Amino acid sequence: MTLPDPEPRRLPLRRMPRSVWARQHPTWREASPSVIGGALKRALARPSGNWFVLAASSEVRTDRPFGRVVSGTELVAWRTPDGAVHAGPGACPHLGAPLCRGAVTEGNLVCRWHGLSLGPGGMPGWSPFPAHDDGVLVWVRLDGCGGEEPTEAPVVPERPRADASIAAVESLAGRCEPEDVVANRLDPWHGSWFHPYSFVGLTVTEVPQGPNPDPDRLVADVGFRVAGRWGVPVRAEFTCPEPRTVVMRIIEGRARAAWWRPTPRRWAPTATGSRAPP
Ligand code: FES
Ligand SMILES: [Fe+2]
Repeated sequence: MTLPDPEPRRLPLRRMPRSVWARQHPTWREASPSVIGGALKRALARPSGNWFVLAASSEVRTDRPFGRVVSGTELVAWRTPDGAVHAGPGACPHLGAPLCRGAVTEGNLVCRWHGLSLGPGGMPGWSPFPAHDDGVLVWVRLDGCGGEEPTEAPVVPERPRADASIAAVESLAGRCEPEDVVANRLDPWHGSWFHPYSFVGLTVTEVPQGPNPDPDRLVADVGFRVAGRWGVPVRAEFTCPEPRTVVMRIIEGRARAAWWRPTPRRWAPTATGSRAPP
């Protein structure tokens, strides 16, 4: 199937070729387990500094605590009046109350059960974790979960200019192995087959070559369906800058860079940025 030219014109919409689901070109031969598995293995081997996404920046506030379980660790986060973000264990060190049900008063976390006040410095038995706000996402460093060499800051991929883009974060609850999510994202071949309502004519045009590929990326041409046969053809690049991030960039076509991040949480929400790729 040939997709329309993705070069920008006044309107990005194009009439997509007619497609019948069962008559698409089968992609199982190209969706090689060794290519996907190799890309996953290289992604998992990249350093993360033990940083995990905790929340959207807008979810962590000065007027109330935020709670979430990340990689099996119950966490609470809040901001002090200067805007700085803080995170710590989610259970109160007194009798274990969920601190996310408490309050934030003058920059301190106050437990709902008996009023214990916890500041960013913590107290014996309750030590905050390093936290980082990159402007879109709040990250927390969990050295006990990551088991890697800790770093000062997370690996944040290059993003579009903040003043020329829109940030959107979506959190979804799921029970899964994090690497399965990443492996799924490194399989663009399933796009037109599994999501025919969203994607049409997906063709992978570039795969990483050899054991140490440079660039280490997958590139796919795909039409994003908008309504009926109308859609936007783009060329999308997929890369993994660290073990828990897959970045999709639109490198040709009308839509501009988007990026996507699965975060490992079992029984907990997953934060993602922007639109999910195929
Ligand atoms: S459980 Fe938090 S103050 Fe008692
Ligand atoms: Fe999918």
